[in-house]
Amino acid sequence: MHTFNEYLERVNNAIKAIPYPEQPSHLYEPITYTMDLGGKRLRPVLVLMACEAVGGDINRALTPAIGLEMFHNFTLLHDDVMDKADIRRGKPTVHVKWDDNTAILSGDAMLTMATQLIAQAPADVMPQVMDLYNRTAMEIYEGQQYDVDFETRNDVTVDEYIEMIRLKTSVLLGCACKMGALIGGADEATAQLFYKVGENLGLAFQLQDDMLDVWGDEATFGKAIGGDIMNNKKTFLLINAMQRATGDHKVELSLWLSTPNASRAVKVPAVTAIYDALDLRSLSLDAINRYNDEALEALSKIAISDEARSEFANFITRLVKRDK
Ligand code: IPE
Ligand code: IPE
Ligand code: MG
Ligand code: MG
Ligand code: MG
Repeated sequence: MHTFNEYLERVNNAIKAIPYPEQPSHLYEPITYTMDLGGKRLRPVLVLMACEAVGGDINRALTPAIGLEMFHNFTLLHDDVMDKADIRRGKPTVHVKWDDNTAILSGDAMLTMATQLIAQAPADVMPQVMDLYNRTAMEIYEGQQYDVDFETRNDVTVDEYIEMIRLKTSVLLGCACKMGALIGGADEATAQLFYKVGENLGLAFQLQDDMLDVWGDEATFGKAIGGDIMNNKKTFLLINAMQRATGDHKVELSLWLSTPNASRAVKVPAVTAIYDALDLRSLSLDAINRYNDEALEALSKIAISDEARSEFANFITRLVKRDK
């Protein structure tokens, strides 16, 4: 087995080597801008880790792995338009640096490039890999639509939230794990257990992303703090706040939810103060721990080496400790 940093280096080198046409530069520059800004590269690293965990050759998985990272980056270009987010990875988002049309069209091009890269999966597993990828992509669009629909609903339940984040975020981590396992030669049942590992890890990951959006440090997180609060995103935090708030907190919260064009400098600290008062940080951390335990539980059912198992366990620990 390789270490996280070794997988990361393989992934980064492969990403650097992706060839792009020069013209039209307005289409391709935003793509290289985005891909070169880095990010954590979690999804391609998971593909390689799962592939090697089942005894596969990571060279067979590298091109589809970077295809998944390209797909992830495509979703970010469109997500930042949808969420009106101005900063990502510490830099202006594509729709801010260029414009909305650029983010849409460069995003479209990234989606097609991603599909081309994933379609280079080894021929023996190609049908399963493409089926998994296409199904995952559709689920992500469904999740993103629920995420937007929920902005204007105030009766979203925790279960609906969990299903929404499963779709928009977790399935891609599940897909990364399963794709790596399939390319590594795992049978369907084993590959499905890897999917479960990624899916649960993904739920914990999005819960944590929602926490960092409130309590993170902008310079480290690389995204503007309070975006979810400004968009009335029905996060685990907001849903629980609406259910638990009483008295002044309840009145204040519903006022913020029904005040369009509220000042960011006032609304974000005010809603954060309500979250703090209701101790939603620890409620959220409990949920994160539960999903990470589920991921470890699924992992314990897979017959892999102790070394491979501890690489995955380390990966989870790494995510829990993250501040970006
Ligand atoms: C951001 O994903 C989108 C979410 C699913 C929260 P990451 O946090 O993995 O973004 P990068 O690729 O590391 O920038
Ligand atoms: C992102 O969810 C999910 C997808 C991009 C599919 P968020 O909207 O929370 O992601 P960030 O916080 O902008 O990275
Ligand atoms: Mg967003
Ligand atoms: Mg979003
Ligand atoms: Mg977020």
